[in-house]
Amino acid sequence: MFATGYWWMTTAAATPEQLTHGKMLFEHQWTVGDKLAGEGDGLGPVFNADSCVACHFQGGVGGGGPNQNNVLAFQVIPMRGRRNVASGVVHSMAVLDELLESELQVSTLFPMLTNRPSVRYTNECGTYTYQPPDFDPVHFDTINTPALFGAGLIDKINFASVQIHGVKRSLGAISACLDGDMSQMLAGRLKGRFGWKGQFNSLEGFVAAACAMEVGLSNPLKPQPIPGAQKPDEKAKWDMDRKQLRDLVAFVASLPAPKQVLPEDAKERQLVLHGETVFSRIGCADCHTPNLGGINGLYSDLRLYDITQKIDTYGMVEDSEFKLPVSHPTFEEWKTPPLWGVADSAPYFHDGGSPTLEDAIDRHGGSAANSQKQFTLAGAPDRRDLLAFLKSLRAPAMP
Ligand code: HEC
Ligand code: HEC
Repeated sequence: MFATGYWWMTTAAATPEQLTHGKMLFEHQWTVGDKLAGEGDGLGPVFNADSCVACHFQGGVGGGGPNQNNVLAFQVIPMRGRRNVASGVVHSMAVLDELLESELQVSTLFPMLTNRPSVRYTNECGTYTYQPPDFDPVHFDTINTPALFGAGLIDKINFASVQIHGVKRSLGAISACLDGDMSQMLAGRLKGRFGWKGQFNSLEGFVAAACAMEVGLSNPLKPQPIPGAQKPDEKAKWDMDRKQLRDLVAFVASLPAPKQVLPEDAKERQLVLHGETVFSRIGCADCHTPNLGGINGLYSDLRLYDITQKIDTYGMVEDSEFKLPVSHPTFEEWKTPPLWGVADSAPYFHDGGSPTLEDAIDRHGGSAANSQKQFTLAGAPDRRDLLAFLKSLRAPAMP
């Protein structure tokens, strides 16, 4: 499922020329029939922006982006005759008005199930007929642009050590539970290193998909989509060749990692350092692991968690006929975002729904409910220092 490395992409370290070329491609505003696109059609036909930097710019080239650049993505629960989870993007722009995509188009491709056969069931009180309601298999999400700083380090992270970290954490939780302490959580599931759902394990795989899906640039690893069809256009000529893709990947991999910036003032510095001890004491660091797989200051375990508050469904009949496969992340599971650079990457959460750090912390429920509760119960100075600590995690100073 993961895009794997190709020998021609992951060889020797990038030269300065490659990085300059890659940066130029990251910033290039692609046009229809672009001169850089070789025999390809250039921008589109459907796209979300005309350059990478149009979305990735906060705190410098490669940063996160505001909510107006959010991407509308969808997933479709498997049905009879379609066993895989379909997924895609509803592009916000097209080179011709008549090619513009819409949510309605997706709902037409994957229609609502209506007039479902009624189900008879018997319990101690008698026999009943249950009419299952109409069922919409399509789930939409709006996705906010994350920062790419330090992506090259994440690409090279020691994955075995990431796996072992989670196993240790789960064993710790089990042993605490046997001692009567139920407050610790098992580690979430591990998918890939990249994407809000860990849907990619390699940087080159993600960059190739971003070229095709966000800008409409067919390339050796990923074809651009056919407008409205939610399918790859296997016949489209390459808009980017191997060298262009390799250099773009090399540039993204070369983006410096975010850095903690401690205040000059000794007293303020003390507060930030104290804030980090609060962060770890109340369990934030369980998921936002400070050091992982050889990366210092990452503040993520790269695992998926459902941290939504659960709605009480007591008394409702569970609609269990159609479900996501168990191996697939649920709609509510998202990857713990690395908190490095978090001071400069608002808005927060996968949907950009939290404008401030306070709001982001407040939104933690589900698997993070205990830690969120401890934050609210902590004294005002502890809360203030924890926020001061988060605000010290800055985007790298760009040259
Ligand atoms: C329309 C806005 C937009 C444009 C244009 C865009 N991106 Fe992104 N980028 C996003 C969003 C949104 C995500 C998160 C997607 C997800 O996780 O499902 C993302 C995620 C990524 C990631 C994964 C980061 C991580 O740590 O998980 C990489 C790498 C990336 N983009 C590179 C690029 C490159 C290279 C380009 C140019 C070819 C580009 N992006 C163009 C919005 C954009
Ligand atoms: C059970 C694991 C878990 C724990 C514990 C946890 N978090 Fe999170 N955190 C997450 C996940 C998962 C997300 C992303 C959720 C989403 O996007 O829907 C997140 C998002 C965030 C964000 C937003 C980051 C961004 O880039 O959007 C901040 C800030 C944050 N957490 C801080 C904290 C703090 C502070 C604590 C302790 C009070 C904490 N977290 C405890 C898993 C956890």
